[in-house]
Amino acid sequence: MNSLETIDQSAMLPESLRADFPILSGDIINGHPLVFLDNAASTQRPRQVIDAIARVYERDYANVHRGIHTLSERSTEQYEEAREKVARFIGTANPQEVIFTQGTTGSINLVARSWGETNLRPGDEILTTVMEHHSNLVPWQQVTAKTGATLRHVPMTEDGQLDMEAFGELLNEQTKLVAVTSMSNTLGTVNPIAEIIAQAHAVGALVLVDAAQSVPHLPTDVAAWDCDFLAFSGHKMLGPSGVGILYGKEALLDAMPPFLGGGSMINEVCLDGFTPAELPAKFEAGTPPIVPAIAMSAAIDYLSAIGLEEIHRHEQALVKYAYEGLSQIDGLRILGPAPEYRSSLVSFAFEKIHAHEFAQVLNDQFGVAVRAGHHCTQPLHKLLGISASTRASFYLYNRPEEVDRLLEGITAVQKMFAPRGRKRRAQ
Ligand code: ALA
Repeated sequence: MNSLETIDQSAMLPESLRADFPILSGDIINGHPLVFLDNAASTQRPRQVIDAIARVYERDYANVHRGIHTLSERSTEQYEEAREKVARFIGTANPQEVIFTQGTTGSINLVARSWGETNLRPGDEILTTVMEHHSNLVPWQQVTAKTGATLRHVPMTEDGQLDMEAFGELLNEQTKLVAVTSMSNTLGTVNPIAEIIAQAHAVGALVLVDAAQSVPHLPTDVAAWDCDFLAFSGHKMLGPSGVGILYGKEALLDAMPPFLGGGSMINEVCLDGFTPAELPAKFEAGTPPIVPAIAMSAAIDYLSAIGLEEIHRHEQALVKYAYEGLSQIDGLRILGPAPEYRSSLVSFAFEKIHAHEFAQVLNDQFGVAVRAGHHCTQPLHKLLGISASTRASFYLYNRPEEVDRLLEGITAVQKMFAPRGRKRRAQ
């Protein structure tokens, strides 16, 4: 097992912030305190976010942009303030560029359907990568099948980083859009987004960044990156599920047709046609995720008070500590690059034990919650020659002692499944 002395204690956020998260102290799994290491799938919520949800429902709730009554005015005001807060958080001065969606998947589908179906022709190319989540792959498969455009994939290096040389070679004047993750949900790899955008723009291609895994953990600056589209979700950053963001440059969003039709997205409707509303309403058909959006802004307040740089430092220390501990376990293969090229998660696989069995025993006998399976990256798993892996993903409330619990659990489970297996001891 690791020694706590090897962790950078100066990078650790105060343990006291765990008290803000009721579920972390309340839940006991089979007699074990919960060790929640499934944050890349969805994080937990602090009391401040839970209270914001209750407050809106108890005092301020009504549909937005529809009523002239007080409650509608209050909820509309809070909903639009949330939009402004999201805009500042990701580095745009223009809230019109922030669209509330149901989540990252909804945001990417909006671009694929609205921008893609309008702009792509046979001969055009969309460039994505082999490390994408299905939600940044399937929508592009669908839209290229429909339009006759071609989908191409940037490979990765042996250690699980994006192959930037191959990227440069694949880019050409047919490339209309690069759809790339800023941080792989399986490998943890942090991709050089600013460089990718600069290279794509040099051939006239747009860039959509799937930032679901990075916005919660690393500072985001769409203006500095000159980003065209950015997609992320509330539930991976202490906010509620059911709300996500599509950021898009105003000129691009303006030129795109509405994706969903219905209430709110129109200026005028007659029996045989309609005129669309201005941004951002044009892309927010129907009743939007009112309370999730307002609560997401409470999550942003919480994260901003701590600071994204500080959160990143804390997670880097944890991930390095976990990586070092996992490296000492015989028969365990860590997926993805060295800690300095990754952020906040580590996935691993065993030759002889299926990830599902592994995760089940970790949960039942150690109270450790990890994700097991293909993590919605089947093509990546196939490339790695495995069908599934186990993923431990960290957030600002995780502690080094929880990494120890994970390592202890892994060692015990490994013994249980492979009684004759040898374990190399740390020196
Ligand atoms: N996209 C989420 C994950 O990686 C669900 O687990």
